[in-house]
Amino acid sequence: MTFSIGTSNLGMGPRGALEDFGGKDVKDGAFINPHVVRRMLDYLRPYRLQMASAFLLMLLETSMTLLTPYLFKVAVDSYIASGNAAGLNRIALALAGSFITLYLAIAGERYLLAWVSQHVLANLRSDLFRHLQRQSLSFHDSRIAGVTVSRVINDVAEINELLSQGVITLIGDMLTLVGIIIVMFGMNPRLALLTFTVLPLMFLATYLFSRQARSAFRETRSRVAAVVGNLAEGINGIRAIQAFAQEETSGERFTNVNEANRNAYINAMTLSYIFLPSIEFLSILSTVIVLFFGGLAVGAGQVSLGVLVAFLSYVTRFFQPVQELSRLYTTMQSAMAGGEQVLKLLDTPPSVADLPDAIELPPVRGEVRFEQVSFRYRSDEESSAPPVLQNINLRIEPGQTVALVGPTGAGKTTIANLVARFYDVSAGRVLVDGIDVRGVTQESLRKQVRVVTQDPFLFSRTIAENIRFGRLEASDAEVEQAARQANAHTFIAALPHGYQTRILEGGVNLSVGQRQLIAIARAILADPRILILDEATANIDTVTEGLIQGALENVLRGRTAIVIAHRLSTIRQADCIYVLEEGQIVEQGTHAELLEQGGLYRELHERLFIETEAGSESVDRQDV
Ligand SMILES: Nc1ncnc2c1ncn2[C@@H]1O[C@H](COP(=O)(O)OP(=O)(O)OP(=O)(O)O)[C@@H](O)[C@H]1O
Ligand SMILES: [Mg+2]
Repeated sequence: MTFSIGTSNLGMGPRGALEDFGGKDVKDGAFINPHVVRRMLDYLRPYRLQMASAFLLMLLETSMTLLTPYLFKVAVDSYIASGNAAGLNRIALALAGSFITLYLAIAGERYLLAWVSQHVLANLRSDLFRHLQRQSLSFHDSRIAGVTVSRVINDVAEINELLSQGVITLIGDMLTLVGIIIVMFGMNPRLALLTFTVLPLMFLATYLFSRQARSAFRETRSRVAAVVGNLAEGINGIRAIQAFAQEETSGERFTNVNEANRNAYINAMTLSYIFLPSIEFLSILSTVIVLFFGGLAVGAGQVSLGVLVAFLSYVTRFFQPVQELSRLYTTMQSAMAGGEQVLKLLDTPPSVADLPDAIELPPVRGEVRFEQVSFRYRSDEESSAPPVLQNINLRIEPGQTVALVGPTGAGKTTIANLVARFYDVSAGRVLVDGIDVRGVTQESLRKQVRVVTQDPFLFSRTIAENIRFGRLEASDAEVEQAARQANAHTFIAALPHGYQTRILEGGVNLSVGQRQLIAIARAILADPRILILDEATANIDTVTEGLIQGALENVLRGRTAIVIAHRLSTIRQADCIYVLEEGQIVEQGTHAELLEQGGLYRELHERLFIETEAGSESVDRQDV
């Protein structure tokens, strides 16, 4: 889908822009959200072997961290004091061994965790993408594409942090802390108590920080979604922006959200950089306490020198996990918030879904019937506006061509959307060969019902690939044949790279008419029983117009066709014309009959076609 520039967004202040781009979506992430954790564990299950290995390595890392200061103590008390060179040798070897083990354990653990988290993330992104592709159009209607993109990229990245440094590091840090406390109390309870006099201060600092950090980091998350949303619209809407010379305002809008994002990050960073040094300070304070009181105790002969050395070493090791844990706290919070957002996307069931007992639509003759169909795009708007379609009854015989005409916004495209079941009717039934479209699988339905949309979407691939999109297994010859039938071959062949010409994003290197010809070729290749053609409303040059006209004759032959027509030439070919106004069928009949009636059709006819005849560019003039 394209992100067209939403007019409702233009001219809104930064606050409005933020709301638009999902700023309000971001909820308060709980520290641990069991639902998120459970789902992530599901994703981790295939990698439990790697996770278990990482866990073992973490245990190894923790025990080495605890062991080293103890070795210092043994070295000082047992060997240095007594001048035992052989013993000192052994200790030095043991220390070297423990450092090497520590290093290897850390490297292995980090590698395994990074490996697992990247695998999980890739799986999660694929699942998300597939899920988004399956979502019904109403799902995408109500979302801003840029924000959805940001969810898949940024929020999933937040979860990465959780996986790669979350759980295992958390457990490792906790174990280290508890281990150090136990060892210190075991060595000398009095000195340990003295050392931990700073702990209340540390708890206070951590508490204050995490409370602030919670809102600061939440703020950064909503601001970054706003930036991505704005960026995506600014790029996708570039044509509209330049056409209306709105570069300046668009730039200001971006600057606003961008600055809000910058400030939010600076706030969050400032907090961190006040907090981290304060923990550092407490760590130094503890060291001084140990040095002073421990030193006195050593002098008094109450404590051995080795214990003092070990204590000094433990103290520094103690505050490292404290810092890490408080950092983890914010990481966990944003990961939980990100995870919630991702799961919200992943857990939204498609509103248009195959029923459990949906059947494959058998090859149809091509009869289409609307019985008392009413429809609105959003069911929650029931109270206010009238439905987009009201009580539509249509009956199209196999092989017939029916034209839908009517003023803009009358509901013509909506009817097309319902036949292909892009949306489900609010009331009534849409039947193909007498089978309710809700009772068949979407895939089997859309194989036989193809829609060429008003503004066909072309992918930034080659022309051949774009046509082949109609039927992936078609050969080159078939692609060319379809292009010939669609009258597209001549212009394609004239391009420097022919069928291998790359289409630029959004098809900007082709005219609207050429885009429609390619879309028609695509539909011909698919060879559906029922074809719905939503003619481009844009002015098309006379030559292309003639080409489309010829293409239509080829494509409409031998199938049921609903043509949403803007050109008289197409309309006149139709077996029956339905005139829509404000979601209702107000007239029906052939061209001649309707002119005779002198109703809306005649009025439209005179307004649109006679007027353009007075102008110079219309091809319809020869028809009128
Ligand atoms: N995705 C959507 N979500 C909500 N409302 C929509 C959506 N698409 C169309 N509408 C509304 O439904 C009504 C009918 O729109 P529709 O696109 O069917 O008109 P149309 O007859 O095809 O007009 P046009 O000739 O300009 O293409 C309009 O009032 C429009 O605002
Ligand atoms: Mg339309």
